Amino acid sequence: MSSRPINVVPFHDDFAAEVGDIDLREPLSEDSLQIVRDAFARYAVLVFPAQELTVEQHLAFARNFGPLETTVARQMSGRKLRTREEIADIANLDAEGQIWKGESRTRLFQMGNRLWHTDSSFKHPSGYASMLYGRSVAPIGGHTQFADLRAAWDALPPAVKQRIDGLIGEHSLVYSRRRLGFTQFTDDEKIAFAPFARPLVRTIPESGRRNLYLASHIGRIQGMPDEQAEQLLRELIDHATQRQFLYTHRWRVGDLLMWDNRCTMHRGTEFDDLRWRRDLHRATTSDRPDAFGPLQVQAQFAA
Ligand SMILES: [Fe+2]
Repeated sequence: MSSRPINVVPFHDDFAAEVGDIDLREPLSEDSLQIVRDAFARYAVLVFPAQELTVEQHLAFARNFGPLETTVARQMSGRKLRTREEIADIANLDAEGQIWKGESRTRLFQMGNRLWHTDSSFKHPSGYASMLYGRSVAPIGGHTQFADLRAAWDALPPAVKQRIDGLIGEHSLVYSRRRLGFTQFTDDEKIAFAPFARPLVRTIPESGRRNLYLASHIGRIQGMPDEQAEQLLRELIDHATQRQFLYTHRWRVGDLLMWDNRCTMHRGTEFDDLRWRRDLHRATTSDRPDAFGPLQVQAQFAA
């Protein structure tokens, strides 16, 4: 363990920072953890470079930030897991560790990660912190982009803020995958991915800042015709993903990226996924269950 103090270097005033002189293989002292928590509350995206983590060490670090989720891949029919169920396998690899084939169902499904989203907004409880660890990275493309939904909220005209405050979006994996033309969900998957309703605007308790809560998982906005909801969602995502609200991470092996799903969106950028291995492991913790109305929506998904 380095004897130097932990070094937090921001990319922007209040968004995205690198954290150096910290070794995530070891349990962190309460002081070190507090530095990470404070940086996380302020910057919402943290980059820990040059880590060498086993799956167990990765999960142990993640547990500092709440209960671990299990991967949705468990609910996907015919999907074999490559690793533990607490790890979301963000890799272009099949269960045998080979680069997937062009027609692979997993590939079509994972293309949803290229849409702007937050992790697990469609679950209850929803996602809090995601920690994504780079084991193999593409030499070109395959970046992860983040949008600061707090700054995006701050920059909205007052009339728009007033119009959307209090609106409720309905989130489901079925909705985001539909945007890509992936509709072959089994009946069991449709039940497993039934939507949850969540406000479009929220406040983060640690910082007191308000923010948009957007994702491509939103398929409906309550009390609004679907075409109008789609138009509004597109306008808000276009607004929130303007260059001034973005941080783009170019991956290096050993990077651990950590982000707050409550107030950021992210997406993977394009790369030649039939050529390069890109093997990322994600651990995600759950938000407090009482933070949102846990109402599951009774939606009828058309076949
Ligand atoms: Fe994601």
